[in-house]
Amino acid sequence: MNADLTADHVRSLGLTGRDFLRELDFTAVELNSLLDLAARLKQLRKQGSEPALLQRKNLAAIFEKTSTRTRISFSVAMADQGGNTTFLDGASSQIGHKESPADTARVLSRIFDAIEFRGSEQAVVEELAQHSSVPVYNGLTDQWHPTQMLADFLTMREHQSNPQERLSYCYLGDARNNMGNSLLIMGAIMGADTRIVAPKVLWPDHSVIDQANALAQASGAKITLTEDITEGVSGAEFVHTDVWVSMGEAKDVWQERIELLKPYQVNQEVLDLAASNAKAMHCLPAYHDTKTVIGAQIAQEFNLHGGIEITHEVFESPANIAFDQAENRMHTIKSILVATLA
Ligand code: CP
Ligand code: NVA
Repeated sequence: MNADLTADHVRSLGLTGRDFLRELDFTAVELNSLLDLAARLKQLRKQGSEPALLQRKNLAAIFEKTSTRTRISFSVAMADQGGNTTFLDGASSQIGHKESPADTARVLSRIFDAIEFRGSEQAVVEELAQHSSVPVYNGLTDQWHPTQMLADFLTMREHQSNPQERLSYCYLGDARNNMGNSLLIMGAIMGADTRIVAPKVLWPDHSVIDQANALAQASGAKITLTEDITEGVSGAEFVHTDVWVSMGEAKDVWQERIELLKPYQVNQEVLDLAASNAKAMHCLPAYHDTKTVIGAQIAQEFNLHGGIEITHEVFESPANIAFDQAENRMHTIKSILVATLA
């Protein structure tokens, strides 16, 4: 990307006005251009010479579910770029209980330049987009977490030992949730060696697996779904995991989930199966110690004192790059905002 980043350069990417509802909304070329732009924006911010390309732009950020990273990333990215963010949620606005997504989208489109939505159903963010005249971004639904994928891929790009080689990563855990689906489809689009390592009952839906296999035909991705930890992890450069029980799930699923996923915990033994120097990744928040209410309760109830989905040992080791991943949420969310709105 050109040294002097201007609105014209950004517009030449051809992404103006586009929604980002799921990874499949963009081609590999477009996703790579968003990663290039994010890397450039990150560098310029660190140098103190970032141009403000979103002056007087307003973002409506709807959070039906809680968030730390996604929320702060949208708001700091907008502020850095000279724009403003207004946060809305179900409790303090009319959204959901008194006003439909279609009506909300038409109202917000009259006043805002873009809309972010985090909530349960993918259908809601799709409906917002259908009725909105401004770009809509998915900040996480039960099915997809597309903005997280940009951060994960920027982070893997930064840490890959040989960028000329095909990227290889595995995901261990509940693979039928947003992170499992998104890591599978994103890897398939981007041509990565993508491994889903989980008990079969927690694999992504058949439709998602079929879609990944079809995408892999075009991209050259290598797709593996396996219950076998050694097969799935061996040689992978990045080992991803996520919480075993996601937002919105009932507390009583913990027992069954722990029974299913205990062998798939990211611990030192599992990491040792991966490539030498392999890195551990987690979208966060993570249950690796007992310093959270839920982490403490689950550790106590199920006798899981060294961590749940990832051990404290691995989390606190140099192999963990989850905080780079967290930082990259902001740079990559900024890139999508700039690319679609500048
Ligand atoms: N990874 C992620 O989406 O974090 P938050 O839930 O804190 O936004
Ligand atoms: N699967 C997790 C991701 C959190 C960022 C959840 O949906 O709670």
